[in-house]
Amino acid sequence: MESPLSRDARGLSKALVGWFHSSKRDLPWRRNRTPWRTWVSEVMLQQTTVDTVAPRFEAFVTQFPDPHSLAAASDDAILAAWAGLGYYRRIRSLRDGARSCVEAFGGEVPRTQAALMKLPGVGPYTSGAIASLAFGEPVAAIDGNVGRVASRLLGIRVDPSTAKGRKSIESELIPLIPKDAAGAFNEALIELGALVCKPSFADCGRCPIRDWCVATDGDPMHYPLKRARKASVAVRCVRAFVPDGCHVWTTRIPDGQRLAGFQELPGRWLAPGESADTALQGVLGSLGFSEVSVGDTVANCHHVITHHRIEVSVHRVEARPPQVSGGSLARIERSLLSSASVTTETRKVARYLLKDRR
Ligand code: ADE
Repeated sequence: MESPLSRDARGLSKALVGWFHSSKRDLPWRRNRTPWRTWVSEVMLQQTTVDTVAPRFEAFVTQFPDPHSLAAASDDAILAAWAGLGYYRRIRSLRDGARSCVEAFGGEVPRTQAALMKLPGVGPYTSGAIASLAFGEPVAAIDGNVGRVASRLLGIRVDPSTAKGRKSIESELIPLIPKDAAGAFNEALIELGALVCKPSFADCGRCPIRDWCVATDGDPMHYPLKRARKASVAVRCVRAFVPDGCHVWTTRIPDGQRLAGFQELPGRWLAPGESADTALQGVLGSLGFSEVSVGDTVANCHHVITHHRIEVSVHRVEARPPQVSGGSLARIERSLLSSASVTTETRKVARYLLKDRR
């Protein structure tokens, strides 16, 4: 049977793009679309909501107005500029991409998906989004939202988060992208996924392309195919609050680890049955502290990261600091425990610790 889509791709794109022009949200990166602003916004929006990104976007692109400025920025500057946006690997990777853009293309953002894909950290989605939104190239940009909308529209029950699923959606979507409005078409699919065709509710009555949609007469919730969720694991973590006058001892997370460059209180996750005392004696001993005496708990918090629910307890610790400090160990002013240079978990416990005047 001929599908409604193959009959009328032009009608579909006109309905979708028309709806987008009349219904789209007024968002900062849409007001003045340049290749660099598109690149930055698409990276920011990958794991962070529009509501969180929108008030932060202009400040970031004012501080880093082009690939040159980001390429030259220090670790501390980029981490502070990204603070609160989460998934910090993205900002290092964006800087790697900016550096390579400066070296290979003189700081001009490449115009095609194929050239963009050569930049480190730029994958199929980001390259497709920049090439289509900023340069009008008729290529697909399939993130989780677009994958869901397209799998409902096309009636293909695949998992868009896998390369195979994305490719099968891409091969059916590309012929539908209008050559003269590729960016608006792709951004309209993003907008439709955010406003109408949502993960847990497909509001088909408000959908501008329901006449072309395979899922609308069946069960839209049947699409896309979902990957089984990994169960989260509960862990305990202990940390040491070692005050030193108006200062406190911290460690800087080494390169290559999650949250590299941020500071946190010395500590680690506990093995089952392990005591806080044993763990903190070990951690502080290996940092060069002596005469370590682990005292009471002074703060507790819950913290959730990808697949772990972490129960954090912070103990007050008296200890003699190492004669020479170096490596990952740092001594910072207590007030900096609530600054952008520490992990979110540290900022959570800082509320209690900063009241401790001893
Ligand atoms: N999410 C990803 N890209 C987006 C865009 N251009 N506008 C709104 N939300 C988005």
